[in-house]
Amino acid sequence: MNTLQIALKLAGQPCLVVGGGAVARRKIELLVAAKAELKVVAVAPGEEVLDFCGKHGIAVERRPFDALDVAGRLLVIAATDDAEVNAEVFAACRRHGVLVNCVDRGDLSTAIFPAIVDRDPVTVGISTGGASPTLARHLRERIEILLPTSLGALAGYLGSRREQIKVAMPDAADRQKFWDRVLDSLLGDLASRGNLEGADAVLAAELASPGSTGLVSLVGGGPGDPELLTIRALRCLQRADVVYHDKLVSTGVLERCRRDARRVDVGRRAGEGGSRNRQQGINAQLVDDARRGLRVVRLKGGDPLVFSRGGEEIAWLADQDVPFEVVPGVTAASACAAIAGIPLTHRDWAQSVCFVTARAHGRLDLDWTEAAKQDQTLVVYMGLKVLASVCERLVAAGADAETPAAAVSRATLPDQRVVAGSLGDLASRVREANLKGPLTTVVGRVASLAGDTPP
Ligand SMILES: C[S@@+](CC[C@H](N)C(=O)[O-])C[C@H]1O[C@@H](n2cnc3c(N)ncnc32)[C@H](O)[C@@H]1O
Repeated sequence: MNTLQIALKLAGQPCLVVGGGAVARRKIELLVAAKAELKVVAVAPGEEVLDFCGKHGIAVERRPFDALDVAGRLLVIAATDDAEVNAEVFAACRRHGVLVNCVDRGDLSTAIFPAIVDRDPVTVGISTGGASPTLARHLRERIEILLPTSLGALAGYLGSRREQIKVAMPDAADRQKFWDRVLDSLLGDLASRGNLEGADAVLAAELASPGSTGLVSLVGGGPGDPELLTIRALRCLQRADVVYHDKLVSTGVLERCRRDARRVDVGRRAGEGGSRNRQQGINAQLVDDARRGLRVVRLKGGDPLVFSRGGEEIAWLADQDVPFEVVPGVTAASACAAIAGIPLTHRDWAQSVCFVTARAHGRLDLDWTEAAKQDQTLVVYMGLKVLASVCERLVAAGADAETPAAAVSRATLPDQRVVAGSLGDLASRVREANLKGPLTTVVGRVASLAGDTPP
């Protein structure tokens, strides 16, 4: 380790920037954000620096650097385009025992600016010890994606309740366990979203009865490719104690669950009847686990609220007073359209999109006239076995047999396929291609843009 990361409390501390160009301006902005008491010395400061400093009441002295400028400063930045001046600043700082950063010159710096991920009051600094600022920037981009923007709100909330918990729980080890538990509970989400009342209620419940605040997350697992999980879905999977998943959820997605999470397949088995009983069983399991304080994930393919009985589960959880959240996922319509190159809407061809299931309550029961309308895109879910009937009924309801249609099978999975045709011939083409489920069909002029993919 050739550097030690520490955080400087610069508020009200005397700092100096030598230089007045674009690089100096970026450092000035950082020091202002840290509330430093700042002076700028530059022979010919640029407009941007003058404007910025003017707005923030920062003194800019237009003159050459003088070694005595560094005396009494906590931190000095050398950001001129003159290597000799920068070296002079470094030497002066060394003589006065002042921390100095010479921009892009690790060898002339006793302080190096890390790449910063800012979620005030949380900051993450990434340093390569001056070896590669570009690598540090790349790492920062990755961390930016991982840390929610709401982290600052959460940190603010935790800070504001710290004393209260210290009083209620004097033992430090107990307190640490308590915070670990509540951070993994609903509290984190509530406080992040600024729902302080809700967060306080969870805090109070945890104090009164530790481990009592479980949460059910209805999570959309997307069409299959784990790369299409949302960051929030991934976070839920990685924090889950137990995951109840449907058959449709891909192995790749399931592999993203926390290693020691219990995984329960609650998908329907072939020939299994009594789907109401099955659903009641799942509902009861979700509630029982949440009441035991577990983090429960109900993981569904696609979006959890599109053709998935998610609505019934939400209603049940609300009725049972169990905290829950819904994390959306990429629904099959979007995924299938994307991989087939079909725009779901089109300025000239489709001003609306209609999602239908070919099998509501096990029956082929649709408003066919509505579904056959022109100038819209029709997306048919769960239609593999009844594809021929669906196409026939659409034509019988007035749709042109030449209307373009495309069937997309196993979208985003390694064996995905697209078969394109028209309402008149799609079913036979799909049969010939021996397409497997899950399969979604897109009907409408937009489907003319789809092309067959090789088997
Ligand atoms: C019970 S529904 C679930 C829909 C899911 N909640 C969604 O938002 O995509 C199952 C149907 O979704 C469609 N589907 C799901 N994943 C698919 C995929 N990877 N490729 C094509 N269709 C898919 C098929 O029409 C399948 O019969």
